[in-house]
Amino acid sequence: MYNKLMTCLASVKEKIDFQPETAIILGSGLGDYADGIKIVDTIEYSDIEGFPVSTVKGHKGRFVFGYVGETPVVIMQGRVHYYEGYPMQEVVLPTRLMGMLGAKKLLLTNAAGGVNEMFQPGDFMMITDHITTAVPSPLIGSNIEELGTRFPDMSEVYSARLRNVIRDCAKECSIDIKEGVYVQFTGPSYETPAEIRMAKAWGGDAVGMSTACEAMAARHMGLEVCGISCITNMAAGISRQKLNHKEVQETADRVSKSFKELVTKVVMNM
Ligand code: HPA
Repeated sequence: MYNKLMTCLASVKEKIDFQPETAIILGSGLGDYADGIKIVDTIEYSDIEGFPVSTVKGHKGRFVFGYVGETPVVIMQGRVHYYEGYPMQEVVLPTRLMGMLGAKKLLLTNAAGGVNEMFQPGDFMMITDHITTAVPSPLIGSNIEELGTRFPDMSEVYSARLRNVIRDCAKECSIDIKEGVYVQFTGPSYETPAEIRMAKAWGGDAVGMSTACEAMAARHMGLEVCGISCITNMAAGISRQKLNHKEVQETADRVSKSFKELVTKVVMNM
């Protein structure tokens, strides 16, 4: 895996000479966020040797390099999901690559189902912690010593400093941001009501099919991590409504303007 990462890194560096400070992964509803920043360069995932390429319709796959305010960033416009069939080590390859390109901080975003009954579709939730018990760890397999230690600490995956930044930025944007624990499931099916009751009993506030594995890989290599979920729907059984991707997309699109505003402010202040 390390060789593969080095191959990808060489492939990117051959095409792009840019030193990002912050990495951003865009979830549903933020897909076009990268189009609005000061773009310096882009690289399609398919042009990177050895890179896992996303198959989901509507998920663009490219790295965008540029500036949010004065901050040099690398943005993943389109992520790789476990449910697409890639092993977890491949799912987190792009995250690791952004770290290897020099990013020291990572902002994760996603669409998630609300488990906490105090949440409403359209809310934002700052991720305070995560539960990955329902998915394999991306750190399983021989440890990549060049990146981090075999048994990494996960007691503060989502940086307390960056959580304060997110709280302050949300306040400045007049956003009543919620906070909570994100539980990652494999997808691609939405969860059953029984699984959501389990997630709730575990202490989860929102569920989704990404993000926590990326946060784990990023922490392994020492990045400072934070994350924001867009609650696009109430999780199965929390409301009587059946779940579908269209609803998820529609809610994400409806609040994308304030999501973008928040992301911009956070990136400029993190
Ligand atoms: N479950 C899992 N992933 C999701 C959901 C959900 O309810 N909503 C958006 N992504």
